[in-house]
Amino acid sequence: MNLSVDRLSKQYKNKIAVDRISFNLTDGVTGLLGANGAGKTTLMRMMSGILNPTSGSVTADGIPVQTEEYRALLGYLPQDFGYYPEFTAREFVQYIAALKGIEKKKAKNKTEELLETVGLSDVANKKIKTFSGGMKQRVGIAQALVNDPKILILDEPTAGLDPKERVRFRNLIAEIGKTSIVLFSTHIVSDIEHIAGNLLMIRDGQLIYEGKWDNQKGDLEQFYMEEFG
Ligand SMILES: Nc1ncnc2c1ncn2[C@@H]1O[C@H](COP(=O)(O)OP(=O)(O)OP(=O)(O)O)[C@@H](O)[C@H]1O
Ligand SMILES: [Mg+2]
Repeated sequence: MNLSVDRLSKQYKNKIAVDRISFNLTDGVTGLLGANGAGKTTLMRMMSGILNPTSGSVTADGIPVQTEEYRALLGYLPQDFGYYPEFTAREFVQYIAALKGIEKKKAKNKTEELLETVGLSDVANKKIKTFSGGMKQRVGIAQALVNDPKILILDEPTAGLDPKERVRFRNLIAEIGKTSIVLFSTHIVSDIEHIAGNLLMIRDGQLIYEGKWDNQKGDLEQFYMEEFG
């Protein structure tokens, strides 16, 4: 699958949050790196079809982002992941599966599989409101995976994860990246170095680096500090 972002822009009154960004993604894991306010969330919301661009387009093998067909391919973890505090982890993931039109038996099996994957099987019957930040984040990752997305967009998925969970997450998305497009945003340079084969870097709404990251180019942290001052 080829995900194409073409001259995508978003303007809020006098603020251009995303400024004519173009890139293509294929299967594999891509990290989106940028400082606070760089435009990561705005870009990802447009790529998830929940925010209309001012101009430009997003298509997956020619399928426009605004369509039901695109949505069926998509898994999305918002930065401000809202959850239902009175739901248990199991209820919530099943609920999202139902919303996505997955048949009941299949939804149940998928829920158990995903709770296991994100390490929440033990607490599946506990209410989400009793969870730590990192545990809530893992519920968010599980719900993004219920429809086996071919396009997975994760807005700061590692925020709040402890080192062990970071490793688990890294292994999980490496696996998913074998057969899907995975784009995740982060502020953490080492997340990119450890998780992503491919890097997008944005500053003030503009794409300033696109491509593979390898140590040949030197130290990513140093490059980042130079670019973001
Ligand atoms: N609804 C809005 N109205 C006006 N300005 C907005 C709106 N949403 C975002 N912005 C502005 O657009 C710019 C990009 O914001 P965005 O949330 O996309 O950045 P980000 O890279 O996700 O930042 P962070 O790392 O803090 O999550 C910021 O200057 C922000 O203030
Ligand atoms: Mg953001």
